[in-house]
Amino acid sequence: PQISSLSGELLSWYDRHHRDLPWRISPLMAARGIRPDPYHIWLSEVMLQQTTVPAVKAYFAKFLERWPTVRDLAAAPTDDVMAAWAGLGYYARARNLKKCAEAVAAEHGGLFPDTEDGLRALPGIGDYTAAAVAAIAFNRQAAVMDRNVERVISRLYAIATPLPAAKLLMKQKVALLTPADRPGDFAQAMMDLGATICTPKRPACALCPFNNACEALRLHDPEHFPVKAAK
Ligand code: ADE
Repeated sequence: PQISSLSGELLSWYDRHHRDLPWRISPLMAARGIRPDPYHIWLSEVMLQQTTVPAVKAYFAKFLERWPTVRDLAAAPTDDVMAAWAGLGYYARARNLKKCAEAVAAEHGGLFPDTEDGLRALPGIGDYTAAAVAAIAFNRQAAVMDRNVERVISRLYAIATPLPAAKLLMKQKVALLTPADRPGDFAQAMMDLGATICTPKRPACALCPFNNACEALRLHDPEHFPVKAAK
């Protein structure tokens, strides 16, 4: 199938089945040009790197109530931020969160950079977070790769190369699929699809917008992908 029809199928699935998340702008609002607050996207993406969506919701609300803007977070005592983070784990992330907020406040006038490269230059922001914020907050055509997206793309194309060697190829495939008009929704749709349909075990292929095109399904073995390197 055409790449444009694949992304079109995914986006139309997302329009109907997207998850309502506190930091998310619905596709209907996004179509009207409403963008989410980059601070909200950055904060939620950093939290989601180690924690499930339900657990993040409570922490996200608590952080925003206490520090409504990135400048508030930058001005907060580090000990307060660390204490508020307690329970989320990986405390280096909380320290980096604070450093990043300080850099945005001091060097960028409290506004997050609006490009992937500009975001990646901030402390504690790596490839994943830079791409996620660029795509979701600024609608940039960035390829957002996480475990969910790797699973979806490795199945769609039955990628035989094992992880982690296949990462670059997977990213190229995602970049080719990403539509110019709705890159932010596309990134969120790939993550939702991986979280709710294209699951590690017993994926719900009957409900998948890619089921006509999926090479792994055609091979009757979606669970075989992504292939992992032999130990
Ligand atoms: N997991 C991590 N980030 C996500 C996002 N933006 N949407 C859905 N699932 C996610």
